[in-house]
This record gives sequence, C-alpha cells and structure tokens, in this order.
Amino acid sequence: MKFFVDTAEIDEIAELNDLGMVDGVTTNPSLIMKSGRDIIEVTKEICDLVSGPVSAEVVATQANEMIAEGRKLAEIAENIAVKLPLTWNGLKACKVLSSEGKMVNVTLCFSVNQALLAAKAGATFISPFIGRLDDLNIDGMELIADIRQVYDNYGYETQILAASIRTVNHVTQSALIGADVITAPPKVIKSLVNHPLTDQGLAQFMSDWAKTGQNIL
Ligand code: E4P
Repeated sequence: MKFFVDTAEIDEIAELNDLGMVDGVTTNPSLIMKSGRDIIEVTKEICDLVSGPVSAEVVATQANEMIAEGRKLAEIAENIAVKLPLTWNGLKACKVLSSEGKMVNVTLCFSVNQALLAAKAGATFISPFIGRLDDLNIDGMELIADIRQVYDNYGYETQILAASIRTVNHVTQSALIGADVITAPPKVIKSLVNHPLTDQGLAQFMSDWAKTGQNIL
C-alpha cells in the first residue's frame, strides 16, 4: 500500500520523505490556506522534493474552467495529479484531462456510485473520505470495502486512495481491505510507530542494561 502525505507543509513532507515513507502528496484548498503559501510556488517545491504523484486541486466549478485550471496545474511538474471534485462538471473535466494523459484524482467521494462514475470517466485515483463519513456516524471503512469489491468485480484500474484518514485504525483497516493508497496527515503517519508494549519493553531493557554497568561504545 502506498503512503501519500496529506499536507502542504514542506518541512513535514521532507522529514517523512527522508525516511522513504512518502509515495506521494495530496493537497487541497484548505491545506494551501493553512500553509499560507502561494499554490503554484508551494506545489512546485513539493514536486521537486517528491517523485510520486502530487495532487493539486482546482477551485473552479464549471467544466471548462476546471479544465483550464487543471492544465495550468499540470504544467507545474510531470508528477502533478489534477484533483477534481466529484461533481458532474468535475467528471467532464476528468474525462478531458485523463484523455490528455494527465493523472487525475477525483476527490470528495462519499458513495460507491460516485466511485463508479469516476472510474468510468478515467480517474487515476478516487478519494473516498473516511473520516468525514465517520463524523456523521456512517462507517467510512465500509465505503472503502464496497468500492474495492466493485472495482475488482469489473477490473477498473482506478486506484482507491483512502482519504480523510484521522486514526491509525483507519490505516490498518485500509490496508486489510486492500486500498491502493492512503493519504494521511504527517502526525497520523508518525503515530503508526507507537505501541505501549514497545515503550514498556524498551524501558525494561534500559533498566536491566544499566545494571550491567557496560557500554557498547
Ligand atoms: C484528501 O485528499 C483530502 O485532502 C483530505 O484527506 C481530507 O481530510 P479531512 O477530512 O481530514 O480534511
């Protein structure tokens, strides 16, 4: 399973990238706003840092403008994935941009039917939002499992990019279901390392080691 980082903060991306944990990056208008950076400049910096797909989202709502914005974003670097919302106009833009050979990430997916439409429109990635469904007391993981089954039933090659990941359990469940990619904030990716038994075991080893009076170096 590939790991994308869901942020526009260069330092956080660089830290994880140095460890080989970054297969790609996703951004959205809210993350660009939080970064305080110019979208073109910060996206270019991310693309220079990371070789995998970097999603940059259009903000137009009409198909022709989405296509124009998508083409401009795609000029930033070869690894740009144009991010389009799952609206009828977004699907029109997806069809055009994917036919031009551009990677497209169709975002804000909340149903299997939406995921089917995106696959038929040629999306490279479909981004179902787990956390935002969980917020409404709807099981976000069930959506990932259902899309997996439907895509496999018909051999769609669109990659399932499990998004709006808020917990380590979302990551585990996505991997078990067979999502192709997860995108998560840096803090969630870093917290995957945590386990209380690891901390407890290490404390015991350190305490016993101190009693030996030895040094390795
Ligand atoms: C994914 O591409 C989105 O940017 C992101 O995962 C949304 O997450 P949120 O629901 O926590 O804002």
